[in-house]
Amino acid sequence: MDKFVITGGNALTGEIPTSGSKNAALPALAAALLTAEPVILKRIPRVRDIRTMQRLLVDIGSLVQVEEETVRLHTPQIVCPEAPYELVKTMRASSLVLGPLVARCGRARVSLPGGCAIGGRPINLHILGLEQLGARIRQSHGYIEAEAPDGLHGATVRFERITVTGTEDLMMAAVMAHGETVLENAAREPEVTDVAELLIKMGARIEGAGTSTIRIQGVERLGGAEHTIIPDRIEAGTFLVAGAITAGDLAITGCNPGHLGALVSKLQQAGSDVTQPTGTTLRIRGAGKLLSVDVTTEEYPGFATDLQAQYMALMTQAEGIAIITETIFENRFMHAQELARMGANIRISGNQAIVAGPHPLTGAGVIASDLRASASLVLAALMARGETVIDRVYHIDRGYEKIEAKLARVGAKIRRVE
Ligand code: EPU
Repeated sequence: MDKFVITGGNALTGEIPTSGSKNAALPALAAALLTAEPVILKRIPRVRDIRTMQRLLVDIGSLVQVEEETVRLHTPQIVCPEAPYELVKTMRASSLVLGPLVARCGRARVSLPGGCAIGGRPINLHILGLEQLGARIRQSHGYIEAEAPDGLHGATVRFERITVTGTEDLMMAAVMAHGETVLENAAREPEVTDVAELLIKMGARIEGAGTSTIRIQGVERLGGAEHTIIPDRIEAGTFLVAGAITAGDLAITGCNPGHLGALVSKLQQAGSDVTQPTGTTLRIRGAGKLLSVDVTTEEYPGFATDLQAQYMALMTQAEGIAIITETIFENRFMHAQELARMGANIRISGNQAIVAGPHPLTGAGVIASDLRASASLVLAALMARGETVIDRVYHIDRGYEKIEAKLARVGAKIRRVE
């Protein structure tokens, strides 16, 4: 298993580019199952979750050609409408094929995801929604079997709580349903809007993506399309924190500053200087002294749960007490104990982390528990005194493209060892 060895203390300076969004690319790849015509997706990040999704699509019947950041998908027919446990257990987003498969061929068999490092994460709302669109659902042997031999029909689906992939899954299920579907209390994340834009290019009739009510008029069939995935706001946000925590001067290029408002506002309150020199660049100049600022994670446009761990690393270096409240997932503080091993002063109480700072961090051996927790440990290591060895970096490889190369180019002392 690979490890990162990081020697902290360098202020990061220079330009760092943003890759395409993993969480927008995953539903976009699944959306290609909705048509027998080729779909070309550009700016697909080269990360492990994307390779897992491509493998799943090949098993289902897609021809997948990858050239650099462009992926061409062609699914003349569905050979095996199934997402097996072996894949779902490594990537929960595999359940994104459920809606497209039922829409395209009237049936799907998808393994139920098991537990997850950050919380229970059931897919009951995907299933309830599909039932409302007329699918018959059975559960057996750890699998969900969905059937709609005569196709799905439009319905009003009100999500009991906001779910990102649930909204995407249901939107993809509804695009070829008979009649109108209204998704209420829908997720407003930019990734949802991006997949809606792809679906519209494929011929879908969707209004309101990006708001909490999405209206979909079913169409007979969808066709091919070409689409460029949005920049990864979580990757860009992670790099912003890298600039802040190392008191560096970083320009994050190729990002969408509009997607990063909640984080930028917190970074500015904490004392960092964040400016927007171009429409697609954010520049951060870290302050000598950081101030503690509380944060509560929320659905978009609130502060992203996917940036909470990284922000916690930053707050270990801020003057005062920061209260970090996690409202999206029930167990997303695994990084706190590892940060504590490096010297941070963090107390967990229910869904709150109380971070007292600044406490000097020193390099230590730590273990990555999930994707964003790993990013948080990398950030802490970048400013810690001495050497940090991060084990299980396969977690970070799921969602960050060449992170060690990108960070090394702006001055980080980071290397991967096997
Ligand atoms: N939930 C249910 N039932 C459902 C679906 C969700 O109870 O059927 C609950 C979840 O357990 C959670 C909350 O609703 O407590 C929100 O979960 P959501 O469904 O929105 O999460 P997701 O769609 O599974 C996506 C991202 C996550 C990100 C969350 C929240 C993808 C592939 N994944 O997950 O990304 O944290 O939205 O923004 O888009 C990551 O990239 O590191 C990551 C975990």
